[in-house]
Amino acid sequence: MTADAPRPPHAPRAATAGGPGLFLTFEGGDGAGKTTQATLLEEWLRGQGREVVRTREPGGTDVGVRIRDIVLHHRGHIAPRAEALLYAADRAHHVETVVQPAIARGDVVIQDRYLDSSVAYQGAGRVLDADDVRELSLWATGGLLPDLTVLLDLDPAAARARLDADDKPFDRLEAEKAEFHERVRVAFLALAAAEPERFLVLDATQPAPTLAERVRAAVASRLV
Ligand code: TYD
Repeated sequence: MTADAPRPPHAPRAATAGGPGLFLTFEGGDGAGKTTQATLLEEWLRGQGREVVRTREPGGTDVGVRIRDIVLHHRGHIAPRAEALLYAADRAHHVETVVQPAIARGDVVIQDRYLDSSVAYQGAGRVLDADDVRELSLWATGGLLPDLTVLLDLDPAAARARLDADDKPFDRLEAEKAEFHERVRVAFLALAAAEPERFLVLDATQPAPTLAERVRAAVASRLV
């Protein structure tokens, strides 16, 4: 695209362009510790007197809960394009009804997973092109990108050991083979390398308090 070409309507833009709030996402493989870190960050931000909206994809809305049930628990095949569209539909509704209003109010949105999960997971199925998956999500969200994305990076074998210890039944994606999770990890790291300003990559084997400290520092610099 040339410099003076018209910007497509779904071109990425900074999340805060639409309001005074902050949009923070956690990404990483299953079992990397996203929920623990999101909770610690939420507590810290509330202690600073900030309004926080804690949410997730898929399933951050009533419509999303129904979509989540299909994508995670449907037994049998779902066509890869249909699966990508379901995640994008969940995201479109969630951004319009939850995330954007919160940013516009000046709240801090802390979200488990966003479009990077679609690129990493749906791309890792080797059927869909990662750029197509990203474009689809950008169209679905009007180009909304987080102010900060924390990637908790963990070797899939270590993650699997954590999930096994949890004793919860596996969903469709957790049940995928080891090579799939290795491709997901590589995809996340490539996304982070392509957007170093947006991403904070952390070694998820570090103790939770150490990770929380790094996350707080990155968030604090964006709150100013
Ligand atoms: P998650 O909410 O992290 O699961 P849990 O409740 O077990 O912690 O994520 C559910 C799964 O959805 C996870 O395996 C990754 C997958 N996923 C995608 O494949 N694409 C997406 O766009 C999103 C948001 C999640």
